[in-house]
Amino acid sequence: MTNGFPSGFTWGAATASYQVEGAVASDGRGPSIWDTFAHTPGRIADGTNGDVADDHYHRFAEDIRLLADLGLNAYRFSIAWPRIVPTGSGAVNPAGLDFYRRLAETCLENGVTPYATLYHWDLPQPLEDAGGWLVRDTAERFRDYAAVTHDALSDVIKHWMTLNEPWCSAFLGYGSGEHAPGRTVGTEALKAVHHLLLGHGLALDAIRSDGAAYGIALNPAPIHAASDSPADRDAARRIDGLRNRLFLEPLLTGRYPADVLEDTGTTAWFAEREADLPLIGAPLDFVGVNYYCPTTVAAPDGLISAPGTSSQPGSENVVAVDTGLPETQMGWPIQASGLRDILVTINKLAPELPLYVTENGSAYPDVVTADGTVEDDERLDYLRRHVAVCKDLVSEGFPLKGYFAWSLLDNFEWAWGHSRRFGIVYVDYATQERIVKKSARWLRDFLA
Ligand code: FCB
Repeated sequence: MTNGFPSGFTWGAATASYQVEGAVASDGRGPSIWDTFAHTPGRIADGTNGDVADDHYHRFAEDIRLLADLGLNAYRFSIAWPRIVPTGSGAVNPAGLDFYRRLAETCLENGVTPYATLYHWDLPQPLEDAGGWLVRDTAERFRDYAAVTHDALSDVIKHWMTLNEPWCSAFLGYGSGEHAPGRTVGTEALKAVHHLLLGHGLALDAIRSDGAAYGIALNPAPIHAASDSPADRDAARRIDGLRNRLFLEPLLTGRYPADVLEDTGTTAWFAEREADLPLIGAPLDFVGVNYYCPTTVAAPDGLISAPGTSSQPGSENVVAVDTGLPETQMGWPIQASGLRDILVTINKLAPELPLYVTENGSAYPDVVTADGTVEDDERLDYLRRHVAVCKDLVSEGFPLKGYFAWSLLDNFEWAWGHSRRFGIVYVDYATQERIVKKSARWLRDFLA
């Protein structure tokens, strides 16, 4: 036992390829939708991009040693599809596979278990040009890429996640357009949901083998109604449907939620694809939960916020409500009990299924002191509160198997660029110097 956690508990930190690697043109990597998007003026808050990021492509060994020195025993990273299959389909790039082999071997040499995510949003640009996640072919290309990658690396990587947060890929990528590819197709974004989940199912079917564990990382969250009024309760049902049930139910029960398909006018389209459900709902070895905050929603009369450019297609009039909770720099309310709530919800759908917290963290405007340290007390407090929830659950016998902090390093935070820092390790982007923040020092002492 370490501080109330069993000795087999997984303690890790997470990153994602485009957010940390840089080296976007090195060793045969092809362009992804995030290269295109980040280089489009006006898309990224501070005008930056991931061309260099944390230069993790060249510094991964140092970063993994840092992770191990904190007492962490697992590293969740993502594999960049455009490094492995630079044009999305067809020719495989051996240099890409070599890079992730070296990365995984470096983990193992440091006593760190690699947890690989196959898709953390960097779709090869040629596949977007051919329709992206709105077309079925992308799911099949994802299967091919997953199979090639797994074949090459399954001796060193034993924990696999297919997708990261398909809600974001579908509804920020094709709904609100806040994320790459920046398209706004209204309720058609539900086609992306289905093709992402189908891609997951096809990939899982192609790669599953004995002696390894396979899962997916989702971003479900507790959704509360602002009041007991029928309109607010219906708003909560709708957003819970889009955010949670639209993903959890097909994956864990093999069925899409009928009310969500009705809300979005997609019942007939999904009915024609019912034959895909057994693949999508095939058994998983674990589910990863990325948790940041709960959401409280209301449906004010008559307010429709730009239909067609919304992350909640078919429910555009629903608004998020400020409940007065303290917030991080992202404006995300802090409520650690929400982590318990969402894990319990999933556990009810799939009792016994092992769960991991695959991301959890907070952004704050860190400053380096005159002594060269970063005293991120607010992040430390956030981390401590959420770790405490995990500890309670584990002590109750709940099947929670691990916790990954988001993120190991400050990095390129998507549409926010470098203007939001989530790392437990600070990165000076001018020099690439790493500074272990107080939150990470707390974690190291906690695990020691
Ligand atoms: C999640 C993403 C991750 C990071 C955090 C803050 O939605 O999976 O890449 O950006 O949010």
